[in-house]
Amino acid sequence: MSNTIAIVPAAGRGVRMGSDRPKQFLELSGKSILAHTLDALAGLPFLGGALLVVPEGFMEEAAGLARCCARPERFPISVVAGGAQRQDSVFNGLSNLPEDCEWVLIHDGVRPFASPKLMEETWREARRAGACIAALPATDTVKRVEDGRVLQTLRREEIWLVQTPQVFRRDILMNAYLEARRGGWTGTDDASFVERCGIPVSVVRGERLNIKVTIPEDLDLAAWFLSRSARCGAKENRGVCP
Ligand code: C5P
Repeated sequence: MSNTIAIVPAAGRGVRMGSDRPKQFLELSGKSILAHTLDALAGLPFLGGALLVVPEGFMEEAAGLARCCARPERFPISVVAGGAQRQDSVFNGLSNLPEDCEWVLIHDGVRPFASPKLMEETWREARRAGACIAALPATDTVKRVEDGRVLQTLRREEIWLVQTPQVFRRDILMNAYLEARRGGWTGTDDASFVERCGIPVSVVRGERLNIKVTIPEDLDLAAWFLSRSARCGAKENRGVCP
């Protein structure tokens, strides 16, 4: 079995989506957003399985979903309960990894469209460097704003918008998370803790279509993207099909 395991944080409440059900369980073209994400991960030959992290009350539903998406021989999926913040959920995942796992690929449950190419590029660079994330250079100008007033305009050339996948050597990530817990650090991605430990993190270019389904408009965009893929008959066809 491959020694890379995916942790899929999917324990958010989806407050920004404004729906009763967490956004990862909302349906998109016949199956949940989370099922799309898991199916994509299950097709990656360099992964040995996944740990799915869901809200406490969704363990049973997630186990059913995992049974559908898993390929029992090659890609087992286990389910664990998440925590209050994303970092608590990922830590629960990290604490439940199989012993022989040496590399961890973290991918948000609500990013169903990351391509296999992006997953593999991030993984390959992490295997070389120890830690790697996918990110996109900002195309909009970014400002710091407080109470409706601009505080500062940031240098756009230096701004990258961070996505998942993020891949790490297991010991690097676990140590960083333990430091974060000891120091009371908070962070909205995994690499931020590794960075705070002074460990270099590589970046590969992410994808515009690798959206994080967060607000209702994202669902429309995601549905459009799926119908377009179906029409064009190929995920490989991105960027070419009208
Ligand atoms: O909230 P955010 O947009 O950063 O969520 C990114 C991913 O982290 C989502 O897939 C969400 O379900 C997950 N998450 C989690 N546990 C939380 C909050 C978010 O697993 N407590």
